[in-house]
Amino acid sequence: MDKFIITGGKKLVGEINISGFKNAILGLIPATLLANDKCIITNVPMISDVYILKDIMSALGAQVILDEINHTIEIDTSTVKECKASYDIAKSLRASYYLLGAGLGRFKKAEVAYPGGCDIGSRPIDLHIKGFEALGSSFKIEHGIIHCVAEKLVGNNIYMDVISVGATINIMLAGAMAEGTTVIENAAKEPHIVDVANFLNAMGADVRGAGTDVIRIKGVERMHGCTYSVIPDQIEAGTYIVAAAATEGDVLIKNVIPKHLESITAKIKELGVEIIEYDDSIRVRGKKDLKSINIKTLPYPGFPTDLQQPLSVLLTKAEGTSIVTESIFEGRFKYVDELKRMGANIKVDGRTAIIRGNTPLSSTQITATDLRAGAACVIAGLMSDGQTEIHDIKHVERGYENIVEKLRGVGADIRKVTE
Ligand code: EPZ
Repeated sequence: MDKFIITGGKKLVGEINISGFKNAILGLIPATLLANDKCIITNVPMISDVYILKDIMSALGAQVILDEINHTIEIDTSTVKECKASYDIAKSLRASYYLLGAGLGRFKKAEVAYPGGCDIGSRPIDLHIKGFEALGSSFKIEHGIIHCVAEKLVGNNIYMDVISVGATINIMLAGAMAEGTTVIENAAKEPHIVDVANFLNAMGADVRGAGTDVIRIKGVERMHGCTYSVIPDQIEAGTYIVAAAATEGDVLIKNVIPKHLESITAKIKELGVEIIEYDDSIRVRGKKDLKSINIKTLPYPGFPTDLQQPLSVLLTKAEGTSIVTESIFEGRFKYVDELKRMGANIKVDGRTAIIRGNTPLSSTQITATDLRAGAACVIAGLMSDGQTEIHDIKHVERGYENIVEKLRGVGADIRKVTE
């Protein structure tokens, strides 16, 4: 098992380049099934989730070339004849559920193992299935495999009871070549919803309204290959903004879209940290004295649930008491037990965490319980005195490209050790 060893207490100073967005590329790669042609995607983050999806697409019969140097992936799906993803390849990735929508859209049939992903709550897929059934698909689960099949897919109006990123994207994929128009009401508005919609349109689809809560998909006869660049990862950027603030550093976060980070930078400014925004970068200048704040995670443009864990670590430094409410996932406070072992004073009551500030973190051995909890552990290690060991770092490497190199590039004392 690999681990990170961090000697904390060092200010982060310098520049960090942000990679392409994990949660966007995880939608774009399955969407290439619809092209029945060759697609080239650039600005691809070289993270383990991308490697897993590459293997899944190859197992389906696609020709896939991943160029790690140039951060591109070339996928020709004209050689794929059906969409069947077995348990052993689909289980480790939540995003494998996108193969259902893309497989239905291309073949009117898909058999995909029930998705895996971070253990942060129940993670149902009822809204995905509701969307597929509204378009005319049948659905059953047998031996852990989800079977969707449709004589034909016909556009329909679908109201999302809960705002769901995954279900919004999956319905766009299934509706892209359906007969007639599909309208998704109460759709998710995250930047990567827009990215997937733009990618579908580059492949010849007709998707309008992405980024608002009503998305209209006018089914087209066929789609084709394209070349496309993934948007920057605002969650990775937010994580490094928090790390710079947590170490009272001075870091320029480059290759970002500041608009995508508004809810994050607003909260960081509320803490008393200096934020300077440029066209495609953000400068973070940390301060010693931070004011406590309250956070409630919400669908975009609200504060993102994926940054709740990293930011909560920073709040242990703030003056007074901060309250964090996690309204999206019921199991996203598991990392608190690890922070308590470092001396944090946090009380979790259901979906609320009460964080008493001014509690210096002391180094020890901690374990990453999921992707963003792992990022929180890294920030805790950077903040604390002494040497912190972080175990189960495979979670972190799923979503943060070259995190050790990026942090070392701004002065962090962090290294990866294989046990
Ligand atoms: C995506 O997960 C992201 N994962 C998550 O990022 C992110 O936290 C989440 O969106 C919210 O932004 C990927 O994109 C691969 P949802 P997803 O459907 O699609 C409920 C990370 O750290 N729901 O928007 O699974 C659900 O329980 C990961 O990068 C249903 O009830 O999230 C939750 O309460 C973690 N029924 C809420 O909706 C459904 O059918 C939002 O979930 C689907 C979801």
